[in-house]
Amino acid sequence: VPPHPLEVIMVGAGYVGLVSGAAMARLGATVTVVESNPGRLTALRSGTIPLHEPGLGELVASERAANRLHFAANLAETALSAPAGTFKAPRLVFLAVGTPENTKPGQQGAADLSAVQAALDELASLLPPNPSLTILATKSTVPVGTGAALARRFQALRPDAPLVVTSNPEFLAEGQAVHNFLNPDRILVGLPGGDTPPSYVQAARQAYSQLYAPLVIKGVPLLFTKRESAELAKYAANAFLAVKIAFMGEIADFCEHSGASVDEVAHAMGLDPRIGPEFLEAGPGYGGSCLPKDVPALVASAAQSNITLTVPQAAHLANKARKAGLGGRMARVMHLAGKRIALLGLAFKAGTDDVRASPALDLATDLLSQGASLALHDPEALANARAAMQALDLPPQQSERLHWAPTLEAALTGADAAVLLAAWPCYKDIAPDHMAQLMKGRHLFDFRRAWQPQPLRAAGFTLHAVGMAE
Ligand code: UGA
Repeated sequence: VPPHPLEVIMVGAGYVGLVSGAAMARLGATVTVVESNPGRLTALRSGTIPLHEPGLGELVASERAANRLHFAANLAETALSAPAGTFKAPRLVFLAVGTPENTKPGQQGAADLSAVQAALDELASLLPPNPSLTILATKSTVPVGTGAALARRFQALRPDAPLVVTSNPEFLAEGQAVHNFLNPDRILVGLPGGDTPPSYVQAARQAYSQLYAPLVIKGVPLLFTKRESAELAKYAANAFLAVKIAFMGEIADFCEHSGASVDEVAHAMGLDPRIGPEFLEAGPGYGGSCLPKDVPALVASAAQSNITLTVPQAAHLANKARKAGLGGRMARVMHLAGKRIALLGLAFKAGTDDVRASPALDLATDLLSQGASLALHDPEALANARAAMQALDLPPQQSERLHWAPTLEAALTGADAAVLLAAWPCYKDIAPDHMAQLMKGRHLFDFRRAWQPQPLRAAGFTLHAVGMAE
């Protein structure tokens, strides 16, 4: 029986930080989530969850009611600045701030670590003199070697403060993040070697064992590795997923010209346990906040050690080309200028309201530049898509051709063609005859193979589905 509940500080209330913080509270820790954005903080404190994540609202509400989950505007507002001796157990400070793609000349593609460094500096500035041990963990995806660099940076700022820098990457997928956190395939913890005092490392190992005990009891593997291995494993895992998806995209292209069906090919491949059935779904290209930025970041960090990662780089380039080519695929079968196109599914995948790096945004800008009018629909991501399109600052002659459809029916009404980009259930469920009544034209483009070909063809549609010969 652990002597004291763990004190966890989670810096960043993005989807990783908020989900991880709330779920750690569910595991029994006392958690304070730090969010520097005032609007987001106010929302959280008033019980509003600023992102679409199934189960998260209930989890946050119940953990707040149990007094295990709190929100703070900065580290100074947490118990970290309390006098030395206040803490009965070591404190665990997780950094779950953003590591976006660096846009500075010469560093393009690399991860921008400024938010991680700022959080570390804030920690260094407010720990009281001679504090007890702090266990720092990067939850943000950071290049291999970041833990070592953070330890050096902290040591220079606060030689009096004992700190052990660990890596505890997350493998949460948006839309199922709460489920993923509480039912993980594995928990990965990277511990430092070298000149870190072994007693610090031992304390970190104990704290993690206590934190994740309720999952370990259920049989979840808790892997302790070298810190560098954990950092690199996170990138390697995401890059491998990207390679799988990009590979199937190319196989899908070949299927379209050879009479094969990519679903049958993927099914036959996936029954081989060496390949596995997951992540073989060809689509419009991968998007989201992780894969598109993590792959070039991995390539860039390896390049610093003069290692060329040709396979992840190829996946990255193939994916960019795939997203950029969606409009061209459509233009090969229909004339687009002056046509009204319904774009269905603006989130980067179904189940989330996130539109970051979504293929729908690439296709929308391409179709506008080809002279089409667009009716855009998504059951959850409409507001985010609208903000993302506005940020592009399109010329008025293009933006006036953008129509935000409040309902699926409104999007389809009078459309010359409809394009399915994210496989939301509402698109799968719509009756072909109803679609035929609403739409003017008969071209359907299914980039997810969510539509059943026979009933649609029976209703008079021409279906162009990725990975399937017509
Ligand atoms: C991804 C990983 O799946 C998580 O394991 C990881 O923790 C997370 O990144 C992260 O680093 O934080 P996520 O970006 O939420 O999670 O989304 P995925 O479900 O991986 O989908 C990524 C993209 O690949 C989507 O655009 C999706 O539509 C596409 N995809 C996925 C396919 O086109 N085909 C597939 O078979 C699978």
